[in-house]
Amino acid sequence: MGLPAPRPAGTALVTGASSGVGGEVARTLAARGHNVVLLARRTGRLNELAAELRGAHGVRAAVVTCDLSEREDRAAALAEVERLGLEVDVLANCAGVGMSGPFHAHPGEDAVRMVATNFEAVVDLSSALVPAMVQRRSGAVLFISSLAGVGPVPGFAAYAATKAAVTSFAEALHAELRPFGVAVTVVCPGPIDTEFSAVADLGRLMRRTPARLTASARECAESGVQGLADGRRVIIPKTAVRALGIVGAHVPHRLGLQIWRRVFAA
Ligand SMILES: NC(=O)c1ccc[n+]([C@@H]2O[C@H](COP(=O)([O-])OP(=O)(O)OC[C@H]3O[C@@H](n4cnc5c(N)ncnc54)[C@H](OP(=O)(O)O)[C@@H]3O)[C@@H](O)[C@H]2O)c1
Repeated sequence: MGLPAPRPAGTALVTGASSGVGGEVARTLAARGHNVVLLARRTGRLNELAAELRGAHGVRAAVVTCDLSEREDRAAALAEVERLGLEVDVLANCAGVGMSGPFHAHPGEDAVRMVATNFEAVVDLSSALVPAMVQRRSGAVLFISSLAGVGPVPGFAAYAATKAAVTSFAEALHAELRPFGVAVTVVCPGPIDTEFSAVADLGRLMRRTPARLTASARECAESGVQGLADGRRVIIPKTAVRALGIVGAHVPHRLGLQIWRRVFAA
């Protein structure tokens, strides 16, 4: 078990490859010789990355434009991967969006779209691609979750709930799929320096965050891919964030809720 060896008929499907952690996961896998299928909504960015990876590593790099919050788009993306004639050896679920501030201030449809992107799509792609990995007795699934999934987070309520679901799903799959030779690793980062904070309206909070807590997209990507290779279940990049994760998991919810309320109110 671990990361399957690269092969001409195999590929890694990387969601959220147009930016941040997903882009770096694609770079890390291509550098190890894996063909890649790059998936996100911004086709132009995906095309640029595909050209970079073909040039730098001589791998096959295909682009699939897909809005993961749309069920039909996901089905079309999976059909496109099949049409390419490649078997998905590695699924990297990196795409995600955040939504901060009072839950009641956001349109319900935005929250539902976030749930579909962050969790429904992850379950959908996994259920489409994992059975063949089990049959081959080889495969790997990477999940980019978040430390925000450790407990309830007022000010980040629906987002944290999607990440709690992703972490729970991933950890359970890790145990289920191990006997079938399929590696499952979930990365639970603290803050990462990407476009995410602007999308999630977290700019002010990010500016106040100490540098030692902030990971780079590359750090998260490389530790996640190495985690798959090593058969690890959970990875928390950065020592200081790991310590926070351990404390966070044991703090009573009553106290945790107060702390998070202050963090987001400041
Ligand atoms: N940055 C942080 O502080 C932080 C901390 C902990 C966990 N995370 C998690 O890390 C993961 C990667 O985020 P990042 O930090 O790399 O943020 P990012 O730079 O904003 O990248 C997010 C990626 O997700 C894709 N995406 C978003 N909505 C999509 C949709 N509906 N359909 C398809 N693709 C979609 C975006 O592509 P398009 O816009 O082109 O579709 C982009 O490629 C996310 O799951 C996030 O929850 C981030």
